[in-house]
Amino acid sequence: MSYREVVHSKFLHPGIGIVLVDHPPVNALSLEVRTSLIENIERLNLDPAVHAIVITGVDGSFIAGADIREMDGPLLEPGLPDVIAAIEASPKPVVAAIGKMALGGGAELALACHMRIAADNARFGFPEVSLGIMPGSGGIPRLIRAVAPSIALEMVASGKPIDAFTALQIGLVDEIFPSSELVQRAAEAARSLAGQPLNRISARPVIASDPSNFDAEATRWTKKAKGQQSVKDVVDAVRHSLTASFEDSRDRTRCDFLCLRDSEQAKALRYQFFAQRSAHRVDGVDRSQALRIRKVAVIGGGTMGSGIAGVCLRADYDTLLVDVSPASIEQARTRIEESLRKTAKSERWSEERIEGCISRLSTSTDHASVEDCELVIEAIFEDEAVKKTLLSSLVHHVSPQALIATNTSYLDIDELASVTADPSRFLGLHFFAPAEVMRLVEVVRGKVTSVETLATGLEFAKSLSKLPVATGVCEGFIVNRILSRYRREMEAVLLEGALPEEIDDALENFGMALGPFATADLSGLDIAWARRKHLAAKHPETASSPSVADRLCQLGRFGRKTESGWYKYESGVRRPDPAVRHLIVEDAERRGIVRREISREEIVGRAIGVMVSEGRAILSNGVAARESDIDAAMVNGLGFPAWRGGPMYFATRSGVVDMSA
Ligand code: 3HC
Repeated sequence: MSYREVVHSKFLHPGIGIVLVDHPPVNALSLEVRTSLIENIERLNLDPAVHAIVITGVDGSFIAGADIREMDGPLLEPGLPDVIAAIEASPKPVVAAIGKMALGGGAELALACHMRIAADNARFGFPEVSLGIMPGSGGIPRLIRAVAPSIALEMVASGKPIDAFTALQIGLVDEIFPSSELVQRAAEAARSLAGQPLNRISARPVIASDPSNFDAEATRWTKKAKGQQSVKDVVDAVRHSLTASFEDSRDRTRCDFLCLRDSEQAKALRYQFFAQRSAHRVDGVDRSQALRIRKVAVIGGGTMGSGIAGVCLRADYDTLLVDVSPASIEQARTRIEESLRKTAKSERWSEERIEGCISRLSTSTDHASVEDCELVIEAIFEDEAVKKTLLSSLVHHVSPQALIATNTSYLDIDELASVTADPSRFLGLHFFAPAEVMRLVEVVRGKVTSVETLATGLEFAKSLSKLPVATGVCEGFIVNRILSRYRREMEAVLLEGALPEEIDDALENFGMALGPFATADLSGLDIAWARRKHLAAKHPETASSPSVADRLCQLGRFGRKTESGWYKYESGVRRPDPAVRHLIVEDAERRGIVRREISREEIVGRAIGVMVSEGRAILSNGVAARESDIDAAMVNGLGFPAWRGGPMYFATRSGVVDMSA
């Protein structure tokens, strides 16, 4: 990586030393940056012409935290605690001028400064838990001396960054300015502090709070953590810091940080971090080849289409929603607006931002209205004939420069492309439900999809804050192909002796967001049933007697939406259903299967075994380019626990073999 180290200039603002961190791509606190920061602080403190210091990043940025690449090696001195100690102990005031982002160690460093000035575009956060670690340089005891402990807990346990306005509101930063004025304003603030007693956060008392409120939040986070150690440890660390001295808490969190840094979970999460960042890389495809998209059309206003339209609006695209009737459009519009308002509430958007988003939505019942869109995404009913009819009708309306994408989950992209005017401008953009929540988008390259089309699909998905994973064509692409095999295996385990709740419990205990039967109930059993019937009609030679899943559908048990499926639901709470047990036992008997006790270990072993064997098949067919792409997709598309790295990584580390029959 090429970089210029920390640069110091004392000429921009008389009497103020500006320490500029210049370490692309994200100003991570690598050894060189840490060393250089200490040298610069020391030098400026010795310089009689300097009265105060400002730390900032090039191009209006700040610091995105520790250098994650260093974490697989030994600790290198000076560490971040040394940098932070040098800043906090500086006899001359040090002001953090925070633009773009202060994350992890960058946020810890800002808290050690004597004042924090932020640009209005800045984000502030502690994402350490998502890397299996916790703030390890005094960030926790400083944070609870700057903001209310329950807010501090939320920040470090969720890992989610907050914006500058929220940071100002809660007391994390002292002032906000437009980013163009950031350094100038920070220099003025620094000058005003010169010669004054310095405000060190570590010397303040912990912000007073209601202990019962804190305890309730702590319990909620610990429960939510499931198997993720970093979240449990960070909750304990905040709790301990509330009553410990600053120094005790700083030393304890350092110790916890070092233990976590070397843990298997942290290694797996670091692997995931880089897996996610390489998943959109495709040999021979460069992001500079991507076309510019301004306006997107989404055809189909059902759950998926509305979800995709909402995601486009959140990313500030002009978005056209097309559906067959004014009534269905009205329903879709209501769904989109409700969902946007929900996001706005949880992310504390301004009314202006919400209104801006909603105003970018247009609707139509006429396919001709897509003519000024650079990208058209079809998200209609999952049926090849229906999709082909729509795609062939678009030939007359879509601009020749535009791209067409399908959101199909299983259908053959090449087959669908064949009815379009220019199959090289056709690709798959497979979003996962709910589209507003799920990060994964499989970007599917057909046989003749052009490099330009693929590059645009990847960049477009990234611009939606999604995780694009490039895949080739096969039934179900990466995630649904693995899911089909995994479901079949778990249904086999069911007949051999386990019950849905035992299988789901075992896999949820392992860390899956939801077990396979709970997931099926959530998605709706009728969708997979329709697909099975379609396949049986297409390939009658493979048709078999109805499975338990078929029987459930025949009984109208389609999952959560009908309040019964693999489970029954009372007020949304899932409960095992003896009627389902009866169906399973009956089906096993009919097939001559003698049921036996099946251990949790066997359930998990067989589940991971089939995921890995399907993953290997996907690799050998060239559908995925790398094992790490499969892992990134499974974590973000199927709720595989990130802290286990993904099925391929987990199997390699733990020696899981395919135990399926
Ligand atoms: N260390 C090393 N490399 C990093 C990095 C980091 N902290 N953060 C990002 N990078 C690299 C990425 O791997 C990528 O490299 P590549 O181009 O070779 O693939 C490049 O920087 C750009 O990253 P993104 O593609 O993610 O760029 P975006 O613009 O989409 O996002 C970001 C930028 C928001 C900073 C995002 O990269 C991010 O969230 N980074 C991680 C931040 C983080 O977790 N910081 C905390 C680290 S732990 C810590 O500080 C511990 C402390 O308490 C001691």
